[in-house]
Amino acid sequence: MRVLKHLFAQNRRWSAKVKEQQPDFFLNLAKQQSPEYLWIGCSDSRVPANQLLELLPGEIFVHRNIANLVVHTDLNCLSVIQYAVDLLKVRHIIICGHYGCGGIKAALENKEHGLIDNWLLNIKDIYRYHQQQIDALTDETGKLNLLCELNVIEQVANVCHTTIVQNAWKNGQELAVHGWIYSIEDGILRDLNVCVTNVNELPHTHRMR
Ligand code: CO
Repeated sequence: MRVLKHLFAQNRRWSAKVKEQQPDFFLNLAKQQSPEYLWIGCSDSRVPANQLLELLPGEIFVHRNIANLVVHTDLNCLSVIQYAVDLLKVRHIIICGHYGCGGIKAALENKEHGLIDNWLLNIKDIYRYHQQQIDALTDETGKLNLLCELNVIEQVANVCHTTIVQNAWKNGQELAVHGWIYSIEDGILRDLNVCVTNVNELPHTHRMR
């Protein structure tokens, strides 16, 4: 019960397999990481960044939380973004949501779930901004999936509005912020085409000069 032996056994097998293909893989990786991407995704166990992008360790910097939110006061997420942008110099930040997200579903309901409800209030706000559009849909899955998409779009904006991203742009750093959504049902990623690459693409109210 305490030791989870099978996981250690799987880890040994995986490590051996990687070393068989590339003997120096871990030695090289141990020296440094230089990922090109920062992934901000949902904690959902069915949406693992490296696997669905077929990327190896070292290729993507990852932050995950429930419903892939970027909250302006979340020091954890902001620290990840700052480290990724200022020190790792990633060139792309990917906000990736997924259809059928349990966090988004909970935010659409009026049930109580405990502490998490406070986190989900951030999604309820997005629902409120787009209530007419969402309520115009009649089927529940349609509503849920629309809010999943709208949430990604909102989080892309939140990333762009941070001082971190705006200062990077001000300093001439090349940095694109992307909004994607993943379908658990077929394993396919879709681009929501809301990519932002400079301050001029932001609304006037949120540009820092
Ligand atoms: Co989710």
